[in-house]
Amino acid sequence: MQESKHGQEFNHDDFAHKYDADVLNEKDPIRTGYQQMMDNLKSFATGSKRILDLGCGTGNSILCLPKDASITGVDVSKKMMERAKVKTEDFKDVQFVQSDILNCFDQLDGKFDLIISTYVIHHLEADEKALLFERCKNQLTEKGKIFFGDLMFLNLDYEKSMHEKYPRLIPCFEEEFFWDAKNEMQAMENIGLAPELESISDLSHVIKIQV
Ligand SMILES: C[S@@+](CC[C@H](N)C(=O)[O-])C[C@H]1O[C@@H](n2cnc3c(N)ncnc32)[C@H](O)[C@@H]1O
Repeated sequence: MQESKHGQEFNHDDFAHKYDADVLNEKDPIRTGYQQMMDNLKSFATGSKRILDLGCGTGNSILCLPKDASITGVDVSKKMMERAKVKTEDFKDVQFVQSDILNCFDQLDGKFDLIISTYVIHHLEADEKALLFERCKNQLTEKGKIFFGDLMFLNLDYEKSMHEKYPRLIPCFEEEFFWDAKNEMQAMENIGLAPELESISDLSHVIKIQV
């Protein structure tokens, strides 16, 4: 399996020491809604037993999952996952895999009843996102669920309006690959998934898939 084009570029090793403080800055439009996203994930994940967290970072998303679940966290950053390990010590069964999220799948054993990813997939280009959706679908149990929370534009007009509202963020918009939710949801529908969109803030949105 091929890894994503920008996985190493977006490896957060150098941010690990300040990431958890950074995400608390609700005044930054990139961070607005972060905690709300986590709360939303917590209620969605209730009752799940075998969970895959793609791009688990310092483990904030894992902390929203049931403590008795069997959880696999994947991240390209060793330093982010070192923090996650410490924060999740009282969880029953958490394993960490250092890998690109696009090519982690042949290192995984069996299927998951929940696959989650928060604030990671905007590091993948559009064709890589589509490939990831397909790989997630293949790794899900029959009644499995998906939670993708990330930085998204809803469509091209929305993207334009965000450029006008946040000119300071244009370099960031141009460097990363924020979702075009309309396109990405179409890619999911093309492979038989039924995505539902919820907005949390101007830039943070969630796509949920449940059977
Ligand atoms: C913004 S942080 C999000 C972390 C966590 N999910 C959260 O919500 O706080 C992005 C994480 O994705 C990881 N990452 C970026 N691109 C990746 C890739 N292609 N494969 C695996 N991990 C990746 C980074 O190392 C970082 O830990």
